[in-house]
Amino acid sequence: MREPIVVGNWKMNKNPDASVQLVQELQAFIGTNGLKTQVGVAPTSLSLVKVSEILSNSPIKLCAQNCHYEDDGAFTGEISATMLQEIGCNYVILGHSERRQYFHETDEVVNQKVKKVLEAGLNVIMCVGETLEEREQDITNQVVERQVKKGLKGISASDMDRVVIAYEPVWAIGTGKTATPQQAEDVHRFIREIVTSLYSVDVANRLRIQYGGSVKSANAKELFSMENIDGGLIGGASLKAEEFYKILCSF
Ligand code: 13P
Repeated sequence: MREPIVVGNWKMNKNPDASVQLVQELQAFIGTNGLKTQVGVAPTSLSLVKVSEILSNSPIKLCAQNCHYEDDGAFTGEISATMLQEIGCNYVILGHSERRQYFHETDEVVNQKVKKVLEAGLNVIMCVGETLEEREQDITNQVVERQVKKGLKGISASDMDRVVIAYEPVWAIGTGKTATPQQAEDVHRFIREIVTSLYSVDVANRLRIQYGGSVKSANAKELFSMENIDGGLIGGASLKAEEFYKILCSF
């Protein structure tokens, strides 16, 4: 059985004080209610330290939205995996389509980062997904296969226990257009097949695959009911504590 994982990717939203407030509101909603899913929040890097202090005794996992692939050095504006580890981060989101699109991250760069984050003892959420154009050209599987294979190059089977893959079709991000549960399920199943071919049935069965792209409380249950959808990576809907909490309760 795979433990589901739902993470709120706050992107470039919420200043440090507002981040603290949002996470406190979320904690109040969760209270002592047992959830069926692991939960994480990914504030901006500027807010990580403050939010980390609040989460020190909390089951909510602290996630970063990105990091560099070197430990330190002359990389103005960047932060490293070991820095994130030191302040109590649990997960790092890597290869988000916005980073691929606006910051020109290639599969090779994503792979270097995946390696570094695992080396620092942290967990990875590696994002993959096709653009609308690629879906229309019917090359979704090819694109996803390339991203998965290149992103995981050189990662050992034992390290795969610390990797989560997020399938985020680019056309569904922030557009209000969600993939249908069946469209998402088809790609999730395909990702599991790729991981089976790279590693083993065991590794693939343990791998958690999140869906991301316009998930909200109104559609979460349907998506999460699919066999190969093990959680969600939530953008806009994670910026409101009550709405995010409702999504968490959809498992
Ligand atoms: P939205 O939920 O706002 O579509 O964003 C999804 C996403 O990119 C999460 O990483």
